[in-house]
Amino acid sequence: MKKYFIQTFGCQMNVYDGWRIAAMLDARGMQKTDDIANADVIILNTCAVRAKATDKVYSALGRIRLIKKPDAIMGIVGCVARESGSDAFKRVPDLNFVLGPQSYHKLPEILENPDMRLLNIELSGLEKFDEMPQMESSPLVTYVPIQEGCNHCCTYCIVPYTRGREISRSFADCVRDVELAAQTGAIEICFLGQNVNGYKYIDENGTTYRLSDLIKAAANFDTVKRIRFTSSYPTEMTDDLIDMFQNEPKLLPFLNMPIQSGSPDVLKRMNRPYDLNQYMDIVHKLKLARSDIQISSDFIVGFPGETDDDFEQTLNIAKTVKYINSYSFKYSPRPHTAAAIMPNQIPENIKSKRLAILDAQLNENQRAFNESCVGKTLTCLCEGLDKTGKHLVYRTPYMQQCIVAKPDGAPHDIAEIEITAANKASLRGKIID
Ligand code: 5AD
Ligand code: SF4
Repeated sequence: MKKYFIQTFGCQMNVYDGWRIAAMLDARGMQKTDDIANADVIILNTCAVRAKATDKVYSALGRIRLIKKPDAIMGIVGCVARESGSDAFKRVPDLNFVLGPQSYHKLPEILENPDMRLLNIELSGLEKFDEMPQMESSPLVTYVPIQEGCNHCCTYCIVPYTRGREISRSFADCVRDVELAAQTGAIEICFLGQNVNGYKYIDENGTTYRLSDLIKAAANFDTVKRIRFTSSYPTEMTDDLIDMFQNEPKLLPFLNMPIQSGSPDVLKRMNRPYDLNQYMDIVHKLKLARSDIQISSDFIVGFPGETDDDFEQTLNIAKTVKYINSYSFKYSPRPHTAAAIMPNQIPENIKSKRLAILDAQLNENQRAFNESCVGKTLTCLCEGLDKTGKHLVYRTPYMQQCIVAKPDGAPHDIAEIEITAANKASLRGKIID
């Protein structure tokens, strides 16, 4: 039996793509292995969002080529494949295939003709979803991609180049995926898209479907207990979607809505045309819809031209909104983006200093929120045993980890947990019968 090795870098969309690639190879009678030296097919499923992510892929390839079987087929799929194109073959001559995020369903071509080199980085839309076999069983948290690509064209971001313009999948296809997931083990559905709340599908009768319609449809499945979505663009938080936080109890009270910067000048140069009042209005509407809602953000520090004062405004917004579970990054110039050639690039040492200050604030937000949870009872989803095997790890509605003592007997997938202690990284709790 032929064996394949797959390693995934990057976002949840990539994780999902990795699942589908694995399901496709399983359906061809291949077997997954974690042992690269034993693999017949080696796939790196790659992310290009920052230079470091791309570098990681090439250094992994450098290591793998020294230990792989001489006749193993090795290649990259995903965003670095699209970023590098045929240059990837120049950088790593023993690569066999380079397949972009919308062409990984072409992988069988190289399995059938291992002596050729396969390059396909076309933006072929969503045909990959239709051409590949579905997973036979679904994880407790199952991702359902509903749109791919992004039309916003933020000046720092390589994604519009790697994943193309926005395309929404048909409402019927998305609901079919939710149904399959619900029937094969999913308890939580996470709708995915680079611009997930931009989801818009008009069917042949002219009916328009939005993300709010998908949330309602998913909530109709009894076995689906939790619903969330990521990642949202602030000004596409339409009222129908905000209303869902009020009207649909299965929708978790947690939203990833990246602001990126708190400075109007930087936002303008990032080509994110919203002002802070507009952003705060959306935050207030969300809080009115669901008073216990929490928001997470992504931040970029050291964008070209960012002054101390701009950075101060980012710090202020992080304090004001009290973001939890957030990510912060140093700006990384990427090919195919406008910001890479902007003047006033910020030196690395200043980026590092600002990142450390912002991270301290984000950690403080997290610690304060975690502590505010002590004494509350939260409905949590079981993720399995911790490393010691003595505790269970649950995930709260806010994506915090909560550690509980392992009960006798099989754990419940969903449990009411009273939070008994907190630190900045996680919670402890006890299961309430
Ligand atoms: N440099 C640093 N961070 C970036 N992101 C996207 N592009 C870049 C870049 N060039 C961050 C954004 C985005 C997250 C997925 O990655 O914050 O929301
Ligand atoms: Fe990375 Fe963005 Fe591609 Fe996801 S879409 S893999 S975050 S570059």
